[in-house]
Amino acid sequence: MKILIKDGQLIDPSQEINEVRNLLLSDGKINGYPSDTKELEMDSSVQVIDASGKVVSPGFIDLHVHLREPGFEHKETIRTGCLAAAAGGFTSVVCMPNTNPVNDNASVTEYILLKARTEGVVNVFPVGAITKGQKGQALAEIGEMREAGCVAISDDGRPVMNSRVMRHAMEYAKAFELPVISHAEDLNLSSDGVMNDGFTSTILGLRGIPNASEEIIVARDITLGELTGTHLHIAHVSTAGAVRLIRDAKKRGVKVTGEATPHHFTLNDKAVLNYDTSTKVNPPIRSREDMEAIREGLKDGVLDIIATDHAPHTEDEKKVEFDLAPFGISGLETALPLALRLVEDRILTLTELIRKLTFNPAQIIIRSNRGTLKPGAPADVVIFDPNKTVKVDRDKFFSKGRNTPFHGWRLSGQILYTIVGGEIVFSA
Ligand code: DOR
Repeated sequence: MKILIKDGQLIDPSQEINEVRNLLLSDGKINGYPSDTKELEMDSSVQVIDASGKVVSPGFIDLHVHLREPGFEHKETIRTGCLAAAAGGFTSVVCMPNTNPVNDNASVTEYILLKARTEGVVNVFPVGAITKGQKGQALAEIGEMREAGCVAISDDGRPVMNSRVMRHAMEYAKAFELPVISHAEDLNLSSDGVMNDGFTSTILGLRGIPNASEEIIVARDITLGELTGTHLHIAHVSTAGAVRLIRDAKKRGVKVTGEATPHHFTLNDKAVLNYDTSTKVNPPIRSREDMEAIREGLKDGVLDIIATDHAPHTEDEKKVEFDLAPFGISGLETALPLALRLVEDRILTLTELIRKLTFNPAQIIIRSNRGTLKPGAPADVVIFDPNKTVKVDRDKFFSKGRNTPFHGWRLSGQILYTIVGGEIVFSA
């Protein structure tokens, strides 16, 4: 099966390509960039896609997704999560271990990968837990999980509060050449907080989570990263102080990378003013100053990637008092149009944005030649129209999670085709 994508604006930051070029996919791989396409167009076995006026780039890679299976299939399954990813232009997703059972041993990893192969439509790369049951005490079977296919370790959803356990985890991770993803939160400080600690939480009478709760653990994990030499990746950075700590650490040469989510670079905590539980997320949506610092961090390269922290929950679970609702935003299907606002606001060029959605995440986690359109690489491609206006409609989501604060927003950017291993898995 061959696909010829004609006349698109090919943007591949891995090769610094940004020009109108044809792209040929064959046998599941990137074949090349034919300039003369007459013969191919006459060949009935070649599917031709006219991409003139559209952007063609490597498929997006999301390093932070909750697929919920096994155990929470009422919120999402590997199948629905993969369909949502494809609709969002993602060809690879990295899924977090806070399932039931927790992905803390090879048998759970194998189950996830089997389900992904048989029911998923995009590439799935599991993250193994740092500690057994994510309880923060005994280390999980890190070597076995790596052998089974895990690409990183994290207790995401919960921090590892014991610094000695985190140190040992980092030492193991280094030996197995796995990055450690830190969900940075001091549980004693965040306590039973439900939103950002500040003026808005006071007005609303809701318990706050202070910035320091994130920054203390970012500082600790950078310190442990320096001690062990392990690659540390800070998930869902939400505060100006955390951006500053990562910036300083990078300047010292510490092996640390950072991630920003669309909700943290788009919203500030005023979004919570109507007690809308779809804005309840952990870490919480912070102040305008924090939001600006995250945008600045994306601009100057302190924050290397954009990831969604796709965290689907059911309507019933979210339709309760703010205090009681679970944390999380369903993010896969709104990521591109929200991210394109960074281009509109001149924070990033389109090439820089695509780099943070493709090549950079591939470099951090996935030890393979993904996130690029180099000949020979897997034919994981997205075609999108950056200028087409779309209205976010949660009722049309492929994800079971309709929990988005962006319902009804008019944004620019429509995914037209998502292609995984040379197969079209989504078309608008
Ligand atoms: O808002 C969140 N939801 N943050 C997390 O860290 C976990 C996630 C979830 O699993 O629902």
